[in-house]
Amino acid sequence: MAYPSAVLPELLAGRERYITLRRDLHAHPELAFEERRTAEVVAGVLRAAGIEVHTGLARTGVVGVLRRGESPAAIGLRADMDALPIEEANDFAHRSRHPGRMHACGHDGHTAMLLAAAEYLAAQGRFDGTVYFIFQPAEETVGGARVMVEEGLFERFPMQAVYGMHNWPGLPAGEFAVHSGPVMACSDQFDIVLRGRGAHAAFPQLGCDPVVAAAALVQALQTVVSRTLDPLQPAVLSVTRLVADGGAYNVIPAEARLAGTVRAFRPEVQDAVEAAMQQLGEGIAAAHGVAIEFNYTRGYPPTVNDAREAARCRQVIETLVGPQRVHTDLPPSMGAEDFAYLARERPGCYVWIGNGEGAGGCSLHNPHYDFNDAILPLGASYWVRLVEHCLPLYEGGRG
Ligand code: NI
Repeated sequence: MAYPSAVLPELLAGRERYITLRRDLHAHPELAFEERRTAEVVAGVLRAAGIEVHTGLARTGVVGVLRRGESPAAIGLRADMDALPIEEANDFAHRSRHPGRMHACGHDGHTAMLLAAAEYLAAQGRFDGTVYFIFQPAEETVGGARVMVEEGLFERFPMQAVYGMHNWPGLPAGEFAVHSGPVMACSDQFDIVLRGRGAHAAFPQLGCDPVVAAAALVQALQTVVSRTLDPLQPAVLSVTRLVADGGAYNVIPAEARLAGTVRAFRPEVQDAVEAAMQQLGEGIAAAHGVAIEFNYTRGYPPTVNDAREAARCRQVIETLVGPQRVHTDLPPSMGAEDFAYLARERPGCYVWIGNGEGAGGCSLHNPHYDFNDAILPLGASYWVRLVEHCLPLYEGGRG
């Protein structure tokens, strides 16, 4: 990767150290809320840099606090620390040493980039205000960010805005993407039980068949997105489980179970999908004479970037890499991200940094994935420039 000239020379010069740090984290992946070693590494680097350290938020979360000057302005920068329950298929020297666990989403790189920025800012950052370095546990599926919010993240560390960054395979190294508005989807789940009456399959008139009702419901659910939503509002409804088993060729089972996921970018779309599913479910159950139990669970909310904060991040990145390397028109992702819980509490912006198309260019959560070390100095430089932009030294307050 040719380095844009705006990458900070100190971060470029120190990259070997950050690569070593990143590969050490990669070799020692830890799952949700078990990131004890990772948290120790993070706290150690922060303390050595003279940064105030708070540990134990959401069990293994770490928050570093760096104050400069008199301004009451404060922002949060967030990295995630957890790995995935995947068996790594790579054979390079820094491959996972823990069977069945792997940094397949680049959270090792996110942690290393934020640590590099923290060290730089502590040593020579030119800003006025407070920076909170938020290292969160359990981004994957169980919502470590939500737990941090519940345990008082924003009360203990009052900040006006919060920022996140995720590597994006396929997006060239040296490039970024910034979305104004939705960037990642919600991940809701549903569970449906249809209860009929089992019977001998040769005498269906004596039973009440939940299998036929389930088949009808799966078909009907395909109309929720196409017939109840604004066509310009994207959503996905996927039935991923359909279980009914009478235990024999000649037994109609007493119940059938369905489950699946819903993805969308706006709360009102989630509401509309849930209501339409319930209405269809109850109607079809009634039509077939079976009882229905319908459970719809909200998972991660959609991640929605604040327009003003997105414009701010875009400006910082354009200065860093040039406007031609900042994508503002990429479609958002139907994947989910628990930064959403932070962006729901404070204006925020979550950007994508290109992980490239070569090594590590395969998709996230793939057993061959690896974070691209070449982008470490660039991501860290973005954090530094964002801080200097949000907490300007001379103007006072936020720019
Ligand atoms: Ni991730």
